[in-house]
Amino acid sequence: MELVEKIKRLKKDRKAVILAHNYQLPEVQDIADFVGDSLGLSIQAAQTDAAVIVFCGVHFMAETAKLLSPDKTVLLPDKKAGCPMADMITAEQLRALKAEHPGAKVLCYVNTSAEVKAECDLCCTSANAVRMVGEILKDAEEIIFVPDRYLAAFVAGQTGRTFITWPGFCPTHARILPEHVEAARALHPGAVVMVHPECRPEVTALADIAISTGGMIRYAKETKAREIIVGTEPGIIHRLKKENQDKVFHPVSAFVICPNMKRTSLEKILWSLEDMEHAIEVPEEIAGRARLSIEAMLKVGR
Ligand code: 13P
Ligand code: SF4
Repeated sequence: MELVEKIKRLKKDRKAVILAHNYQLPEVQDIADFVGDSLGLSIQAAQTDAAVIVFCGVHFMAETAKLLSPDKTVLLPDKKAGCPMADMITAEQLRALKAEHPGAKVLCYVNTSAEVKAECDLCCTSANAVRMVGEILKDAEEIIFVPDRYLAAFVAGQTGRTFITWPGFCPTHARILPEHVEAARALHPGAVVMVHPECRPEVTALADIAISTGGMIRYAKETKAREIIVGTEPGIIHRLKKENQDKVFHPVSAFVICPNMKRTSLEKILWSLEDMEHAIEVPEEIAGRARLSIEAMLKVGR
């Protein structure tokens, strides 16, 4: 309690806002001003009039917030909170891929570094990837879509397009196997299955719906089903339960934890506000180009 009070007091003194991803620890979600998916958090970061953003998530998310609010201080409470998928492609590797396909439009998942975003035409999250391809890139003859090959496969299935892809993937979601979905269905007959599009295609094929974490929050409210099998990082179950007290949520497997998302604690949030660390900085020559691809995405929205 004392910790929570200290954070609240300091947050006010610093004119700070706390943004948290849906996978964060329950106590971190509970102290946040806004909890959401990558897209929702980017929109909040772009709109807030706070002077400081404490970003409880992983590095690429805080970096995206900094790109959208360059005059604000964006703090990542644990500087080691990265995303292994985002580290699977470098700007140099993407430049080499672009050189092989000079006419292609380049779409990147938001789970990338600013250097990679600076090489792209358009950015997307899992909440709007299908629309980006179906609407904004509908006339593109060739599309490079990096780095998540599973998200690319999902969007290809939804849009009928093919992509030049990259062999990136989320090590957390890749742990979910078809047998986990089958076992969960057998254990909970009548439950609906929602999974994240970062899952393997064999897994999304078995689900009732594949959606972003923000989509899951909405779907759980709307579905008539009383029991829901959750095929993503189980941190989201805290919020799902809080907002749907009449429904029951079952994690598809106990092994889907994202260790990076669990690095942020209340103590680290307090230290972050006390020491104003770890501030995210992006060199302007990269930020200027990277911002264009994110702003193009935000124009389209969800
Ligand atoms: P969402 O944008 O759906 O919240 O996903 C972010 C992420 O990193 C999923 O692993
Ligand atoms: Fe990255 Fe996967 Fe963790 Fe999301 S869940 S932050 S994609 S490693």
